[in-house]
Amino acid sequence: MTHVVFKSEQAALALLAALPKAELHVHIEGTLEPELMFALAMRNGVALPYKSVGEVRAAYAFDNLQSFLDIYYAGTQVLITQQDFFDMTWAYLERAHADHVVHTELFFDPQSHTVRGVDMGTVILGIHRACQQAAAQWGMSSALILCFLRHLSEDDAIATLLAAAPYRAHLVGVGLDSSEQGHPPDKFARVFAKAAAQGLKLVAHAGEEGPPAYVWQALDVLGVHRIDHGVRSMEDAALVARLAAERIPLTVCPLSNMALQVTPNLATHPIKTMLDANLCAMVNSDDPAYFGGYLNDNFAAIITALSLSPQDVLTLVRNGFEASFIDDRLRVQYELQLDNAMAQWTVQHG
Ligand code: HPA
Ligand code: ZN
Repeated sequence: MTHVVFKSEQAALALLAALPKAELHVHIEGTLEPELMFALAMRNGVALPYKSVGEVRAAYAFDNLQSFLDIYYAGTQVLITQQDFFDMTWAYLERAHADHVVHTELFFDPQSHTVRGVDMGTVILGIHRACQQAAAQWGMSSALILCFLRHLSEDDAIATLLAAAPYRAHLVGVGLDSSEQGHPPDKFARVFAKAAAQGLKLVAHAGEEGPPAYVWQALDVLGVHRIDHGVRSMEDAALVARLAAERIPLTVCPLSNMALQVTPNLATHPIKTMLDANLCAMVNSDDPAYFGGYLNDNFAAIITALSLSPQDVLTLVRNGFEASFIDDRLRVQYELQLDNAMAQWTVQHG
């Protein structure tokens, strides 16, 4: 098939608006916009090391993952009450709804809160209540994935899983995030086995800054169903073949990769190569308040930088539904809506 690019930027934006989408890699704490950060700091009497919203945004210039994480964890300090977690999640869900996201799987980092004396139930119930409201108001579906901080010990992760046990019904899975280098997946073999035994789905950040060996480990030692980021997998041909053969999803985050200098620029971002290699890659925003864009911003940026075709966009969106942890009945429903939206757009803009 010849590669047909979009006729105009307007046609591309119309497609992004038309297609129902899933977002599977978004850290809810990474959706905290500076305005809300300031409002919550005021409400809770928490002192911030910034004088203004402008000063916060100016601080968002990152050299690598760690330079981002230091600022990201500092921002979580304003989150204290269940209402805070609700407000942050609701703001994200409204923004996602505006991008025509119909299904989202939210990461949260409970250890960044429990270490400050915030109760596990405060975190989970606040986030969950916002998700329930989005379901009631717009029919949006969502699920929560509890992430372990890999710079902390596995014992701490095990204690965290135990603390979340009363809220097991609100979780779909567990993940692994934070500083990747020097914290390989196999450090968390026992806690992932415990989570699997509870019927939780398994995902892990791997191959963001870490080597392809960490992706192999996430698959073979942890037994994950999806890889978060995984862009460095492209350095290992045998790994690419494995990911393609097993249709292992990769939740790719283009603007994040650029902001954290995982790729020098978007024109050299591997997501198009991943599609061409038949990988189940899809697009996500990661920490949109920090990386300069929500889901459709990520799509728009790669459409331009990589000259993606409407068919490429459709494939990325379809991969998102394929990779999601929804039940098959809902998946078929979303895929049908997707095909109808694509057909309609093609009549008007194709
Ligand atoms: N990588 C690792 N940990 C994270 C990220 C990320 O992109 N965002 C929030 N925690
Ligand atoms: Zn992430």
